[in-house]
Amino acid sequence: MGRPVLRTPLCDLLGIEYPVLSAGMGPVASGSAPVAVGKLAAAVSNAGGLGVIGGAGFSPERLREEIRNIRQMTDKPFGVDLLLPSNYMGGAASGEMPRDPRDLIPQATYEGLKKIAEDLGVEWKQNPDLADPTRNRPRGGGMSDGQMEVVIEEKVPVFASGLGNPAPWIDRLKANGTRVLALVGNVKNARRVADAGVDVVVAQGTEAGGHTGRIATLALLPQALDAVAPKPVVAAGGIADGRGLAAVLACGAVGAWCGTAFLVADEANQPEMQKERILAAIDEDTRITRLYSGKTMRNITNPLIEAWEAAGFAALPMGLQGVLTGDLMYSIRESGRTELLMNAAGQASGLLTKGRPAADILNDMVAGASEILGRSLAQSVTAIPG
Ligand SMILES: Cc1cc2nc3c(=O)[nH]c(=O)nc-3n(C[C@H](O)[C@H](O)[C@H](O)COP(=O)(O)O)c2cc1C
Repeated sequence: MGRPVLRTPLCDLLGIEYPVLSAGMGPVASGSAPVAVGKLAAAVSNAGGLGVIGGAGFSPERLREEIRNIRQMTDKPFGVDLLLPSNYMGGAASGEMPRDPRDLIPQATYEGLKKIAEDLGVEWKQNPDLADPTRNRPRGGGMSDGQMEVVIEEKVPVFASGLGNPAPWIDRLKANGTRVLALVGNVKNARRVADAGVDVVVAQGTEAGGHTGRIATLALLPQALDAVAPKPVVAAGGIADGRGLAAVLACGAVGAWCGTAFLVADEANQPEMQKERILAAIDEDTRITRLYSGKTMRNITNPLIEAWEAAGFAALPMGLQGVLTGDLMYSIRESGRTELLMNAAGQASGLLTKGRPAADILNDMVAGASEILGRSLAQSVTAIPG
């Protein structure tokens, strides 16, 4: 069998062979490197898709290094994804940070977390770095500003904003020939980023791993398409094999943006234990929680998430939530209870059965979709337009 053909207008727009993008996945734990490092992105780009670096966890300097690294690993187009949240509580940026950032958080919730830790058998320890003014402070808008300058200076082929609106940067990005994508989880934000001039809207359904909204992919995609037409829309959330890819292309998407499917790629920077948990997961094993970032994030569930949700605590804005949970996460890591740490993954986890190279994941997805769209659909469905 020859190499399958699967093309959409997205292929021409981005200069890629197949309309599959690996999501720019950031770190799964605070302070760690992103899941979607250059190695993963390069593997996807070399296989014909578009690999995207999850730049969110990188300092500007480290991001520049990774962009230069990926250029050594592929001569194909690639992307960089960053989070541009509008409600990031970054005291460090405003200069209003008290000596110990714990002073910013509600004591009752902090004490509640201590109790949860105790119930889970985790010994409570204070993270010494939390009160160190040179380390681990909530990072404000200054962080993403610095990252964006690097994206612009390095003239990356594709930029994707994972949260927020890239509007302030669009003119400079476009002047470099950078294609701009923006992830959205509802129609209102689809319109907002389309009006800002992004090239492609990525409509992400609630099935997705990581930060996610409330509307399912199959319901959101046609509404987003209608709202921003004729702007192209890529679908995300729950797409992990050829069937999902064929479905969203049939619906009118020009491509698929896939995270969970690539979480178990050999090249993903993901702890083995977390990959195994994802491979073992069934359809009902994920849950949305604000515990880890302050924003709604889909994770493989665990007893800590269940206890946090049952307690009904109000989460704090992104950044401050990291201060609130800083001692808890430190205590968990110190006691080796890694199963309680963040393990962002989507509902498609239940579809995944083995870890393998990213190229195999992409090739199977493309082969499956081209088989469905090019052959089996016509055999199993009779459709004659009236
Ligand atoms: C571990 C993990 C980390 C993620 N980090 C980011 C991120 O930093 N920026 C972003 O735009 N999206 C991030 N996402 C969401 C993905 O970009 C993507 O929209 C989502 O994974 C698609 O749904 P799927 O997981 O069902 O394929 C992350 C997803 C996961 C699973």
